Formats: sequence, C-alpha cells, structure tokens
Amino acid sequence: MAVRSTKKGDNAMRIGVLTSGGDCPGINAAIRGVCKCAISHYGMEVIGIHSGFEGLLTKEVEIIDENALSGLLSQYGTILGSSREQPFKRGGVMPDADKPTLLKENVKDLRLDCVVCIGGNGTMDTAAKMMGLGINVVAIPKTIDNDVWGTDTTFGFDSAVSIATDAIDRLHSTASSHKRVMVIEVMGHRSGWIALYSGMAGGGDVILLPEIPYNITNVGNALIDRIKKGKYYSIVVVAEGIQTTNPRKHAGEFIAEEIEYETGIETRQTVLGYIQRGGSPTSFDRNLATRMGGHAVELIANQQYGRMVALQGAKITSLDIRDVAGKQKYVSSQDDLVVEGRKIGVCFG
Ligand code: F6P
Repeated sequence: MAVRSTKKGDNAMRIGVLTSGGDCPGINAAIRGVCKCAISHYGMEVIGIHSGFEGLLTKEVEIIDENALSGLLSQYGTILGSSREQPFKRGGVMPDADKPTLLKENVKDLRLDCVVCIGGNGTMDTAAKMMGLGINVVAIPKTIDNDVWGTDTTFGFDSAVSIATDAIDRLHSTASSHKRVMVIEVMGHRSGWIALYSGMAGGGDVILLPEIPYNITNVGNALIDRIKKGKYYSIVVVAEGIQTTNPRKHAGEFIAEEIEYETGIETRQTVLGYIQRGGSPTSFDRNLATRMGGHAVELIANQQYGRMVALQGAKITSLDIRDVAGKQKYVSSQDDLVVEGRKIGVCFG
C-alpha cells in the first residue's frame, strides 16, 4: 500500500499515542521510538493523549514535538500518564456518557488517522473493540508481567526481573545469618513469569507459580530436606497470583505462615510490590521498546491497522489484535526454565 505524503501541514498523517494500564520501565522509550520515527522519518504529526483512554474521552491532549523527546530512554514511568480506564465498561471517568460514541467523535475531532495504544491485556481488549467501531488502531504490548499473548516478551519484564533478582540476592545473606526461610512475593498478576525468571536467576529453592499447583507439605518437606543436607537457610519465591485459602492475605504472607506451621522453621516474608515496577529500564527493555515503537509507525505508514506489534524469536513482527484480545500468556510446566529448575532440585510445589 502507498505511504501517504507526510510533509507537515500538507495532508500530513496525524497519529495519537496513549499509554494505558499499569506503568512499567520502558514506556517512555517506546513513546520516544513512536514519536521520533513518526515525526522525523515519516513527517507525521503526533498527538500525545494523557492518562490512557481517559484522555481520549476528555480530550486531554497535546501536540508532541521533537524537543519533548530528549532524555526519555532512561526515564521511568510514562510522560503521558496512565489510567485503568476501560471505555467499553461501565463506571470510570464520565460514567453517564455513551463512551464508545464519544471515543469515535473525539478521534474524528482530533483528526487522528490512527491511535497507537501502548498497554497490556486490558488495552489489547479495548483496542480490538475500537477497531470494531471503525477507529484505526495499532497496539504495542507492555507490562512487567510478560503475560500478553502473541509476543515472546513485553518490555518492562526484563527490568522487573532484574529488580526482583537483586532483591532475592539481598535476602540470601540475611536468610543465611539467621538460618531462616525467606519468602518473597513478586508481581505477575495471574501469571508466574516474574517469579520463575527472578526465582531461577536468584537461586530460589522453592518457586511457586499460579500455573503449577502446589502442596504445602511438599514445600515443607523440600525445606526440611535442605536442612538435613546441611543447608540451613532457604529462599522461597512466590508469585502474587497463586491460589491460597485466604484472599485477604498477600500470597507471600500466607505461604510464610503455612511454612512455619508445617515445618517449625523460623520464616520471614517480604512483598516486593511496586518497587519492581519503577525506575530506569534495562538496556534490553529500552531497545525492545524502541524497536516496537518504530515497527508500529511503519505499520501505520503502510496503513496496516488493527495490529499488535510482537517479538517472536529475534524478530519484531505483528499480529491481528483480535487474535490477542481475551487471551493471556501463561508459563507452561514444560517451560525450559521449569524443566531445568526441577533437574537442579528447585521445588515448584
Ligand atoms: O499489570 C502489572 C501489575 O503490576 C501487576 O503485576 C499487578 O498485579 C498490578 O499491575 C497492580 O495494579 P495496580 O497498579 O492497579 O495496583
């Protein structure tokens, strides 16, 4: 398909960009990738939409020029702001408005040829619905959770894993000094990617994932066996989304209490929380975000709408957003890291 003439002011393509859902390291690198590629390579105009879909409903927007894009690679959070607004669901901002109609009108008023939606699973669902309304959309997956279907990796994940790994490294010394079990809970929503990758990189002795059912007696036996072998401390990494019988308690807190009850070993717990979502992105995440941002703009320049950019193997590609919507990417019990972990004695429950 022909690329539309993109000289500024002269029928230039005009795109909007928004960031939605939980923030993560690398979003600003993706915004920079989209904007620089759109403005300097294709001569497009870019409108930054504030606070995710909320800003598309309230028309809280600004024109982005290249000067606003300096220093973004290492900058944490999102310069556009984010929200969990879901315009196809009840509630949220402007609860009495016909939000789908308003979205359509605002995209027309703002003269947007396409909206670049940077987000996680909820954003992919919304983007697919926007396509259904006739709004041109291209999506870029981001989340620390790495649970977006169709892409091998999302940016944010590598940074979160490195923060969680560092935290686990630090727990080893205090666990060893006091001969304790240290339980650390990491994020991941309903998937166990962060727990698996940080747990393995940090030398976790027990790693509990939502995808692999656990038995607390097995966990206790694994910890007692370590003591019998002369290993007087242990690290237990728990994904926030594991099943417990007490939903009011953090998963890590629940597991720590169960371990102490089951084994009698002194046990402490740490919930890593939002620390793993903040700070500067790793170089891997910066580069992935830059590649995805550029690819998204290339799709728009070729008028290939309705697609989500993805990393598959070493290549950046794209797939139909409708194939992604409603799905989630889970850890398989046959994942290489699980298989190798089992071989070296890690207990997965
Ligand atoms: O999706 C990213 C994530 O950080 C999850 O790991 C976590 O469960 C959730 O967001 C927390 O969401 P909120 O920012 O709404 O508290």
